[in-house]
Amino acid sequence: MNLNARYQKIRKIFQTKYDPNTYWSKLGRRIKAEEVYAKPHKLEMKMRRVNALLELLGTIRFNSVLDFGCGWGFVSKFVLDKFSIDDYVAFDASSDRISEAKIHLKDFSVDLHTSMIEDFKIDKKFDLVLGTGILHHVKPEDIRSVLKHLLGFAKNDFIHDDPPIGFRSNTQIEKTTFNFYHDFKQIWHELGYNVRIIPIPDHPSRILYHVKLN
Ligand SMILES: C[S@@+](CC[C@H](N)C(=O)[O-])C[C@H]1O[C@@H](n2cnc3c(N)ncnc32)[C@H](O)[C@@H]1O
Repeated sequence: MNLNARYQKIRKIFQTKYDPNTYWSKLGRRIKAEEVYAKPHKLEMKMRRVNALLELLGTIRFNSVLDFGCGWGFVSKFVLDKFSIDDYVAFDASSDRISEAKIHLKDFSVDLHTSMIEDFKIDKKFDLVLGTGILHHVKPEDIRSVLKHLLGFAKNDFIHDDPPIGFRSNTQIEKTTFNFYHDFKQIWHELGYNVRIIPIPDHPSRILYHVKLN
């Protein structure tokens, strides 16, 4: 079997087997958060994303944040450290990651929850809805409903960091980490919004997407 045929086979298996809730709950249990960025190169790439995000956040005004898929709060902590925010709510699919986030973010006032995006409910809206490295883990058939659900919590700005449009679009899904390459420009357009695309310097596999809601 040639490489492509093997890839297509694996892709088919993964597409049918990928249940985000089970997958992320197990992964959070299995891999210790601090090990994720223990490798200097990985940490450096992550910091390029963090710095680009902080720069973008410096151009908008916000006082409340909903941070979806916060993981153990690696990015959240930089945001909380730099900006004065009255209301910061964050959640993640993995209860283990949320336990770690409680420790990592102990010096800040953060309301943390374990929840899938799809199930998340809260009776208020936020100036900023933010998600770093999450939406490309949402299955193509669910991405529009997930965005609509998140939009229900957003007042002014929606920012997410994900792979650039067209990035590995010939393959659509990466076989080991369940990354899907959504056409966010098209998807946001379908939902009635223009998305601004902001490159991250020296980071070919991520960009920032910024939607102004009003
Ligand atoms: C790559 S990590 C990013 C974590 C964090 N935002 C950061 O930048 O450090 C992806 C996180 O998204 C969470 N996740 C993936 N799909 C999710 C979903 N549908 N609902 C809630 N959380 C999800 C996972 O549990 C995991 O912690």
